[in-house]
Amino acid sequence: MVVTVLGASGRTGRQVVRLLVRQGHSVRAGVRNGRRGDAVAGLGATPVIADLTATQDELVDAFAGSDVVINTAGAADPDPAAVALIDRDGAITGIRAAERAAVRRFVQLSAQFADAPDQGDRLVRSILYAKQISDSVLRRSSLMWTVVRAATLTDEPATGRVSIASHLDAGRVPRLDVAAVIAACLTEPRTENRGFDIHTGPLPVAAALAALD
Ligand SMILES: NC(=O)c1ccc[n+]([C@@H]2O[C@H](COP(=O)([O-])OP(=O)(O)OC[C@H]3O[C@@H](n4cnc5c(N)ncnc54)[C@H](OP(=O)(O)O)[C@@H]3O)[C@@H](O)[C@H]2O)c1
Repeated sequence: MVVTVLGASGRTGRQVVRLLVRQGHSVRAGVRNGRRGDAVAGLGATPVIADLTATQDELVDAFAGSDVVINTAGAADPDPAAVALIDRDGAITGIRAAERAAVRRFVQLSAQFADAPDQGDRLVRSILYAKQISDSVLRRSSLMWTVVRAATLTDEPATGRVSIASHLDAGRVPRLDVAAVIAACLTEPRTENRGFDIHTGPLPVAAALAALD
């Protein structure tokens, strides 16, 4: 499959790119601008400029020929205005552009509790509300969708073991394990038109996804 990864220079995005390349996909590593190309060099992917604050037309061009778009981008600044710009409005622009570019599937890395966003401090609340809105636009789009609501992300080594369900208690999960789940979604039909929470748990990734009802 031809897969475009948004936020490919990010900590989770880079791991998603790495895994998809290893699985034999043709991967386009979406970066905000040419200066960020270095961040994805050596991953085996083709860099493509895909800035979520660009126009919808520019993103349509960036997505042309892609079967799948995976959005792992998030606001670089810990500021509610930046979150609204990237995680809400930028994600929605990406979804609309994917529809116009005849992309088949869109996988969104969201956050646990985006489906119950009235909690946490001002920044957390802004992130959860932004993701609730963009997740809901994705669900109502014409795209085949998957929303991966990850618990608190860590840079710890992969465990290869996760819990996946419609709703989980709060938890933590290494970015590497989230990347493995996102990559596995592309070949697991149970993840089509589904949203789910994920954190570290007892099951290997494939088994956890296969157990989705
Ligand atoms: N932190 C948590 O505990 C947690 C929990 C659940 C979900 N999440 C979500 O998981 C996702 C990944 O998190 P992370 O910590 O791995 O991310 P990260 O390392 O902060 O990387 C974020 C990525 O988004 C890119 N980005 C920023 N603005 C952009 C724009 N205008 N257009 C396109 N890309 C843009 C960044 O590009 P540059 O490299 O150019 O800055 C970077 O590649 C985020 O959406 C985050 O909200 C986080």
